[in-house]
Amino acid sequence: MWKRVKYHVPDALVVSQRQTGTNIYTLTIACREIATEAKPGQFVHLRCSSGLDPLLRRPFSIYQVERKEGLVSFCYQVVGKGTKLLSRVKEGTFLDVMGPLGHGFETELCGKRVGLIGGGLGIAPLIFLGQELAKNNEVQGFWGGRSKVMMPQLAVTSDFPYFLATEDGSAGHRGLVTELVEQWLQQETPDQLYACGPRPMLAAVAQLARSKEIPLQVSLESVMACGVGACLGCICEKAGADEEKRLKVCQDGPVFWAEEVQWDGEN
Ligand SMILES: Cc1cc2nc3c(=O)[nH]c(=O)nc-3n(C[C@H](O)[C@H](O)[C@H](O)COP(=O)(O)OP(=O)(O)OC[C@H]3O[C@@H](n4cnc5c(N)ncnc54)[C@H](O)[C@@H]3O)c2cc1C
Ligand code: FES
Repeated sequence: MWKRVKYHVPDALVVSQRQTGTNIYTLTIACREIATEAKPGQFVHLRCSSGLDPLLRRPFSIYQVERKEGLVSFCYQVVGKGTKLLSRVKEGTFLDVMGPLGHGFETELCGKRVGLIGGGLGIAPLIFLGQELAKNNEVQGFWGGRSKVMMPQLAVTSDFPYFLATEDGSAGHRGLVTELVEQWLQQETPDQLYACGPRPMLAAVAQLARSKEIPLQVSLESVMACGVGACLGCICEKAGADEEKRLKVCQDGPVFWAEEVQWDGEN
């Protein structure tokens, strides 16, 4: 079993910061502690600047890990104040980071056929996941986004094949990634599915998985404050009326089995 350990590293060196798309950046930090422990689907809580504004850290999924070198990469989109400040952080400076946090994806599979479905920046943690799973399993990726320039760099995904869908037709199938997944599921019966991306995409994948009785793990997003289960700022509703009705995305997740999540009205 994977033991969950978290570290607070106030001075992780920024090794590289590159713009890799429209408002999309790839950031690499040197942090041996996190690189050693990180599991696909876990996230790191970053302080986006050295100042006090914004006060709260921001969560980012782990996109790439080079364990021997002690490097951890993130792929992020600039959407507001924190990510704008983060995009200005220069190589050679230091970031205050905490992680790896949360429950990651199930990776202890062997000899299975699995499908990974990513939308937009939700592709980032699935690239790390696919690389780990491809060591012992047959992996097929499905990546979707509004446009090719609004996705993480895919050149790093050479360990397993993937199909691409873009809404503007700039790469692959013109349309939604779920259309490709639906076609694939008419011909294949994978052992497990994994998804990360916008909530409507997750709801559509959950419906497809349920109709085919295929286990599915989803990574949810939520606005977060503490990131460690203390503030209840990231609550989402749990399926079923039994027990505790709320899930803490930061601590119980961000990865959940699809049937744990309340999708009512969404699919
Ligand atoms: C577990 C987890 C992993 C994540 N991984 C990534 C990643 O790999 N790459 C990436 O680009 N982003 C990721 N995010 C989202 C990222 O944390 C937010 O985009 C970021 O916190 C926004 O900060 P900001 O200060 O720039 O925006 P703010 O000024 O705080 O907000 C700008 C806008 O973004 C919305 N927003 C802020 N945070 C979130 C959120 N968590 N989910 C949905 N909408 C939000 C706000 O409602 C607002 O409309 C992840 C979020 C979570 C919870
Ligand atoms: S962000 Fe504080 S409990 Fe989840």
